[in-house]
Amino acid sequence: LLTFVDNLPSGFPILGQYSMIVGVPPVCYFGMVFEFLSCCNLAALSVSCSCILPWSEKGTFYGLDLGGTNFRVLRVELGGQRSSFDRDVAQQAIPPRLMTGRSEDLFDFIASSLQHLVEKGNDSEQSPIIKELGFTFSFPVKQTSVSSGILIKWTKGFAITDMVGKEVAGVLQQTLARKGLNMQVAVLVNNTVGTLALGHYHDADTVAAVIIGTGTNACYWERTDAIIKCQGLLTTSGGMVVNMEWGNFWSSHMPRTSYDIELDAESPNPNDQGFEKMISGMYLGDIVRRVILRMSQESDVFGPVFSSLSVPFALGYASMTPLMAAMHEDDSPELTKVARILKDDLKIPDLPLKARKLVVKVCDVVARRAARLAAAGIVGILKKIGRDGSGCIRVGRTRSDTKMRRTVVAIEGSLYTQYTMFREYLHEALHEILGEDIAQHVILKVTEDGSGTGAALLAASHSSKSVDNV
Ligand code: BG6
Ligand code: GLC
Repeated sequence: LLTFVDNLPSGFPILGQYSMIVGVPPVCYFGMVFEFLSCCNLAALSVSCSCILPWSEKGTFYGLDLGGTNFRVLRVELGGQRSSFDRDVAQQAIPPRLMTGRSEDLFDFIASSLQHLVEKGNDSEQSPIIKELGFTFSFPVKQTSVSSGILIKWTKGFAITDMVGKEVAGVLQQTLARKGLNMQVAVLVNNTVGTLALGHYHDADTVAAVIIGTGTNACYWERTDAIIKCQGLLTTSGGMVVNMEWGNFWSSHMPRTSYDIELDAESPNPNDQGFEKMISGMYLGDIVRRVILRMSQESDVFGPVFSSLSVPFALGYASMTPLMAAMHEDDSPELTKVARILKDDLKIPDLPLKARKLVVKVCDVVARRAARLAAAGIVGILKKIGRDGSGCIRVGRTRSDTKMRRTVVAIEGSLYTQYTMFREYLHEALHEILGEDIAQHVILKVTEDGSGTGAALLAASHSSKSVDNV
């Protein structure tokens, strides 16, 4: 780090503070992984029971996917064999006013989008055959059955107060009925669970799913008898998918900087989603902004302090991260993209090359820390389910003689799929923590737009109709 910037400007101690974190030895991440492990069960807010079984369903099923940058409606035609389906997807950004308004307006919007898809597909809305729907609702929910759950709180900038404490699928069902849509919510799932379902549909070795986008979260397949919340139940055989809501994970092993503390205090949900605020796309850009602001206050490297740097989430919640990625990945010798973004979006004109390099370095440090924390979380899950190499079959005397089962983690979200450096740092950290021998058996597989499709598949597998649903 020190050799990166010529003539180190006086702002460097701030970066130094960050480089300490990025440079923490893997053993510190192990500490976090262990603490993470013990939290896996406690953190499991919703446990959704789903039969991820042979996938022999046939027929037309629908999916609604709410919770990322875009809202999606989908129609999925299942052919009765694994890997054979057609789908029609329509997506649009959620108008920001609906994210903080009334539940009625949000659900009207959702139902109208579904209505358009049904009309487009010449599926009569009035058809006496009830259409089944998988609803991906990507917020913390207390799951009460496979098709119902109560909203605990909002995350990711949503704040519709009259919805908290309500049964989510019920509200959707009432809205569908009001619009005259003959549809039934067959399953209510988190986006991680939908992603796991699609991942498993394509590849039976898929045991967990991770989302790293606007927010971050993971779920994994667990034996029911190993789930604390299920102890005391009559049936503890079989398995379940545990939605961890890891965005709310916290650990004393995780060093927090003053930037993290200030960001949390000024966010719409203070003292909440601590892990998410260090990792996900909604927040990374704002951490970068805060570091640059402090540097410009404490040194003259950026010239005067620009007021545009002082407003929390000045550039909107999610929109700063694509800009951060673009600056981070600017490979032009003069860093022209960095100069343009600083000028057009942050209203900081004419920064010298030395300062532009510093901005790139800040992006690098913030992205690398986030990626390494996410990787530590993934290793936590692998440890919990014995897929980190500790439970593998030893065929010889040495560690390299062990045989580990192929383990697939379905992964999704714009930060992971669209930010190359972030993705590379995450892979690098996974290899570092697991070791090459084990890491080569762990496959992170992108399941594009996975969650809504996964929810439609789960609707099929929980369909009230027979397997031959046509
Ligand atoms: C998508 C999934 O691909 O990724 C969604 O299908 C999920 O369910 C999303 O919410 C994450 O999106 P974003 O916009 O937060 O990166
Ligand atoms: C937030 C939500 C969680 C979701 C994640 C990824 O953390 O609380 O339910 O899975 O974002 O979108």
